[in-house]
Amino acid sequence: MLEELEKLQLQAFAELESAVDSRELEQWRICYLGKKSRLTQVLRSLSTLPLDERRNTGARANTIKKSLENALEERGHSLETSRLVLSLENKRVDITLPGYPMPIGRSHPTTQTIEEICQVFQKMGFQVFEGPDVEWDYYNFEALNIPADHPARDMFATFWIDSNRGKRNRLLRTHTSPMQIRVMEHTPPPIRIIVPGRCYRYEATDTTHESMFYQVEGLAVDKNITMADLKGTLFDFCRCIFGEERKVRFRCDYFPFVEPGVEIAIECLACHGNGCRICGYSGWIEILGAGMVNPDVLRRVGIDPEVYSGFAFGLGVERVPMLRYGIDDIRLFYNNDIRFLRQF
Ligand code: DAH
Repeated sequence: MLEELEKLQLQAFAELESAVDSRELEQWRICYLGKKSRLTQVLRSLSTLPLDERRNTGARANTIKKSLENALEERGHSLETSRLVLSLENKRVDITLPGYPMPIGRSHPTTQTIEEICQVFQKMGFQVFEGPDVEWDYYNFEALNIPADHPARDMFATFWIDSNRGKRNRLLRTHTSPMQIRVMEHTPPPIRIIVPGRCYRYEATDTTHESMFYQVEGLAVDKNITMADLKGTLFDFCRCIFGEERKVRFRCDYFPFVEPGVEIAIECLACHGNGCRICGYSGWIEILGAGMVNPDVLRRVGIDPEVYSGFAFGLGVERVPMLRYGIDDIRLFYNNDIRFLRQF
């Protein structure tokens, strides 16, 4: 019997060497160490042997069992290690390979312009605010001195959203001016704010008109604010954005929420004032509407026009890069043609 056990051990060791995965290891375990294995049988039948044989065989069988168990464990470890090494080898990154070129994004020209405009005004002490794109009739028109039957409503072709008992109610703001009212309602003077934002007009588009565009609104309210403050602030702004030499034109204009109202135009950069397609052959491009805040507007938000006065302005954002770079169609900004956008 001892001889048989020795042979069994040799055979077991040899077979273990050829087991290459956990499934084969398990088969090997069942075969040599399992309940039905020869070794277990021998150990179970020890009691039937004569005493002297029992001691020898028993001791030997137990040693063989131990050594088989150890060998199994070792083989398991070494298989696991080589599996790990192999998988690491397979996933190895070759750091000498050339990388993929990653395209770098950038801000939209409109965003860049808004940031620049805000910086100029922030240096003068203005705070930046933002307001809702969906507005009430009250803020977009009524509170700005444009009642329902006012002819000035024709200036603003409006996208209406809903109405209340036949009365039109909510809309997409046609300008950023409603934020003047929202801010004045809650803030006692002194006020110095600018408001960048999207505006919408229900109009046929052409080279200078889009149904969605950006404006920056400005408002300053305090004691003793005069037309000189308005003019100084806006001329300074124009010089910062368009350069010291650029000619600036300052003329009367009409907006219901200011009195008096003015319009500021810049000498056309494309034709240097000679007249071209971009400036409609006038040599000038209007970029700003402005004026002294109408006393009726102040009164409506509870600010006493006998004590306070203010100026306001609104400027078309896309006009700035159009002027600077000679872009002759505002629609290019929002077509998302990457060939256009990546130039800025
Ligand atoms: N909201 C006017 C528009 O969209 C522009 C404007 C004019 C704004 C005069 C002002 C202002 O604040 O004082 O045409």
